[in-house]
Amino acid sequence: MNFYSRMLASGVLAAIVSLSAIAAQAQAYPTHSITMIVPFAAGGPTDVTSRIVTGHMAQTLGQSIIIENVVGAGGTTATTRAARAANDGYVLISGHMGTHAAAVPLYPNLAYHPAKDFEPVALLAGTPIVILARKDFPPKDLKEFVTYVKANVDKVNAAHAGVGSVSHASCELLNAILDIKPTGIPFNGTGPAMNALVGGQVDYMCDQVVNAVPQINGGTIKAYAVATPERNPSLPDIPTTAEAGLPAFQAQAWNGIFAPKGTPAPIIAKLNAAAVKALDDEGVRKRLLDLGSVIPSPAERTPEALAALVKSEIAKWTPVLKPATN
Ligand code: MLT
Repeated sequence: MNFYSRMLASGVLAAIVSLSAIAAQAQAYPTHSITMIVPFAAGGPTDVTSRIVTGHMAQTLGQSIIIENVVGAGGTTATTRAARAANDGYVLISGHMGTHAAAVPLYPNLAYHPAKDFEPVALLAGTPIVILARKDFPPKDLKEFVTYVKANVDKVNAAHAGVGSVSHASCELLNAILDIKPTGIPFNGTGPAMNALVGGQVDYMCDQVVNAVPQINGGTIKAYAVATPERNPSLPDIPTTAEAGLPAFQAQAWNGIFAPKGTPAPIIAKLNAAAVKALDDEGVRKRLLDLGSVIPSPAERTPEALAALVKSEIAKWTPVLKPATN
């Protein structure tokens, strides 16, 4: 048996052929438009952050990135669809602390595993949490808010973007700290939830600053505190929870791009490079920073760093949220 027939027999040749096919495919990638699934309604923080960054990525990649808003079940409907999509680089998902961490303890029968069914591409932004209320909600500061919601727990309600979303998970943490269980009002995203808050149809919400800065600075809603150690540069007048008397409530979310498991490494590398270039772009940075986002450091932008973040966030939120399912 000669060299080639032995290689053929051992399958090495087939492997070489498919590897070079993948390399050629990655070389040409992308040859048509890419779909970015956003698991919440248009106009919300995940949608806004995704559009800002993918707008620049599309220029680098030379193909348009089409945002497809797929809503439902706190983002897990869309994330399940992304996990089952073709792993050819043309379907991506804009995931976050909810879809890729908080969902694990809150959905015992989750149809995907954030750390196993995806290829992390890049972290896009950190999104601090802020406690908000409708403009005419009685409490004037966080101390009064705590007293008021405890005294009226059966009357007040908290808006959120569905079980397992960032707004739900972060307010579940607040509920655990205050030992309260107010009524939750679900929406398809905090975009529509914000409209209800501005309209006075709901009482309060734990939301990402990205979604709230324009409303807070516009005076259409109340903001009690940001749940981070430092004040947010885009909200200099809003105290931290520690300054306002509730240091235990610390919560920051994040957004990241993920591809279906098995998406070739050269394609992940190309997408990551485009995301990193976008986060270094002055225009992109200004828009994200003006909305109170935290831009990841270069070390935090690697696929490996996002993979590690997913694991650590699942470990962090599981003990907090598991009890919420009882
Ligand atoms: C959104 O984009 O609507 C939010 O990310 C929802 C959430 O997770 O609270």
